[in-house]
Amino acid sequence: MSKPLEGIKIIDFTHVQAGPACTQLLAWFGADVIKVERPGAGDVTRSQLRDIPGVDALYFTMLNSNKRSLTLDTKKPEGKEILTKLIKESDVLVENFGPGALDRMGFTWEHIKELNPGMIVASVKGFSDGHHYEDLKVYENVAQCAGGAASTTGFDDGPPTVSAAALGDSNTGMHLAIGILTALRARDVSGKGQKVAVSMQDSVLNLCRVKLRDQQRLDRVGYLEEYPQYPHGSFSDVVPRGGNAGGGGQPGWVLKCKGWETDPNAYIYFTIQGHAWAPICKALGKEEWIDDPAYMTAGARQDKIFAIFGTIEDWLKDKTKFEAVDILRKFDIPCSPVLSMKEIAADPSLRASGTIAEVDHKERGKYLTVGSPIKFSDMKVEIKGSPLLGEHTDEVLESLGYSSRDIAALHEKQVV
Ligand code: COA
Repeated sequence: MSKPLEGIKIIDFTHVQAGPACTQLLAWFGADVIKVERPGAGDVTRSQLRDIPGVDALYFTMLNSNKRSLTLDTKKPEGKEILTKLIKESDVLVENFGPGALDRMGFTWEHIKELNPGMIVASVKGFSDGHHYEDLKVYENVAQCAGGAASTTGFDDGPPTVSAAALGDSNTGMHLAIGILTALRARDVSGKGQKVAVSMQDSVLNLCRVKLRDQQRLDRVGYLEEYPQYPHGSFSDVVPRGGNAGGGGQPGWVLKCKGWETDPNAYIYFTIQGHAWAPICKALGKEEWIDDPAYMTAGARQDKIFAIFGTIEDWLKDKTKFEAVDILRKFDIPCSPVLSMKEIAADPSLRASGTIAEVDHKERGKYLTVGSPIKFSDMKVEIKGSPLLGEHTDEVLESLGYSSRDIAALHEKQVV
């Protein structure tokens, strides 16, 4: 079965995580993604946090599957010539260099447009063009701090905290993928390419939308009733860190289960969904709360919400997180065990759906990666291993018309 993005050729000038996450997704869906890497070294993640000496690190293999690798020194004249040929016959160039690097290489948007008017140039930067920090290089946690995530994550008595989720990196890559697909659709109609730019700050902020909601509510009324600071604590004039509070209209918290003293993840997330109050009371054996005016509405429960969570923790004392969820699911209560990465890696449902995929790599053997979180009824997303550095250099050069003698000379001069 052919893949929807088959026939789309992408020059993948990305490195680390934000850009590679984007191009990997497009490769899964059928695009021919040619990763351009510096000869000898390649993407820095090939050698970062290695678990096997001399073998591409998981950091690289888990973000670069289904791609081809071309080594090319794009600062050498012959390298620029090869890149020029590639640009002429490709659809998209994706890059996440530091600000200005592509221009310094001689490949400005104006020049690329001249070479190929249909070209889509997609970039990730830390901050958007024209931003007063536009010159800054940025990594994940920097973006989480700039995008409002860190100031609103963590506990009231602790410092700003970054999330383990790659809100700055992979999330920005996903935004960029949406931008690229949109620009491809626009090109279908107009025949023209365009520049697509996504900043890490903006992408983090896009996921912190509800916190900007909260700032405006706080400005108006002076408190936020779903935060743990309400009603017994105090608010300043900025959105506070809400700990594990629900964040929407449904109060929730992380609650201890049997074994929490020794297992750092023996917890469940429990949501007190308003209309599930009666089933919650039934599940807990607290039927008397169902019609008690002191408990029966969300407003009435608000000032004793942590006492209610305490009662639920009492009920959880003799139940593992899995046993608890198995009981609560029968009452239609939104909840989940707090899963460790070890549990996720072994989860049979995630394996069956392909969300956790076991992949073969030429040098490392089998390893686990996260497969496509997007499922299609008409396409099975097949995850392949990542390429070795320069694995496809010769075949790409041949396809551009270079003879084996030319290719040998390019290797000799370390252009490729
Ligand atoms: N051949 C020759 N030169 C190459 C090359 C190639 N194939 N690939 C990259 N280079 C050069 C670039 O042209 C650049 O040269 P210059 O600065 O002399 O003009 C140089 O390598 C370094 O690029 P840069 O991207 O600035 O690397 P860095 O290691 O200093 O910074 C980041 C890394 C991630 C901080 C930076 O790339 C960045 O801020 N990117 C944008 C935001 C982002 O994506 N952050 C990371 C999220 S995971």
